[in-house]
Amino acid sequence: MTSDRLDRIRLHGDVPEHVAVIMDGNGRWAAERGLPRHLGHREGMKAVLETIEGALEAGVGILTLFAFSTENWQRPYQEVSALMKLLELYARKERDELARQGVEVHVLGELDRLDEVARRAVDSIVTETKGGSKLRLNLTISYGGREEIVRAAKLLSERVRAGELRAEDIDEEALEESLFTRGLPPPDLLIRTSGEYRISNFMLWQLAYTEIYITPVFRPDFTREHLFEAILDYQRRDRRFGRVVAP
Ligand code: IPE
Ligand code: IPE
Ligand code: MG
Repeated sequence: MTSDRLDRIRLHGDVPEHVAVIMDGNGRWAAERGLPRHLGHREGMKAVLETIEGALEAGVGILTLFAFSTENWQRPYQEVSALMKLLELYARKERDELARQGVEVHVLGELDRLDEVARRAVDSIVTETKGGSKLRLNLTISYGGREEIVRAAKLLSERVRAGELRAEDIDEEALEESLFTRGLPPPDLLIRTSGEYRISNFMLWQLAYTEIYITPVFRPDFTREHLFEAILDYQRRDRRFGRVVAP
């Protein structure tokens, strides 16, 4: 597909290695059309593939998508069930296509909370896409940033108790190695759709120096061109990491 934005991204050359997206706004997309929320979620699923393909075209190496948060379990039972069903359908429908495109899927979160059927579908998408080398896709499901940090603290304390690690040797690297994102660089760019200016408990540790881009577009309307626009905006940023840039 030809895209003027894609050409400009390539010309600039500095493509973010890791892009994370809080894909929000399904409910409001549906409400605007007088539709039930679950139809918004169904449309929102289509945007997932669109974003993945855009990331592949732009040459992003790692894409992390916020699919379902720890707090989302508190939504009405019917909405949670609809979301789980969609997740399962998505995993079954797209796994071959993702494998064909060289996408390796990883699932990050407290997966014990998923029901058996959703769990199996998620396991199969992970197994079937293993070895994909074009893009690593992290789907965060039943994920909360605070919970992830608490889990890391527990893992570290168990290692101390087992005598594998000394408490005084716990440092940022040791904590990072205990997160779901073990071994991955932090996101360079965070995109949030639907115009909310908040993080909503997403990747609290990893986002320390991530560039943030917020678009008013609702998730079902988010196309690859919107992703390219976010990357172009990122390419205009001056990342300082707390330092001073020499004049
Ligand atoms: C994002 O859309 C999908 C999930 C959180 C699972 P929402 O369902 O949060 O949509 P809004 O924010 O109500 O519009
Ligand atoms: C964040 O959206 C979670 C996902 C997109 C999966 P929410 O809709 O749950 O967040 P809030 O409630 O607007 O903070
Ligand atoms: Mg929302």
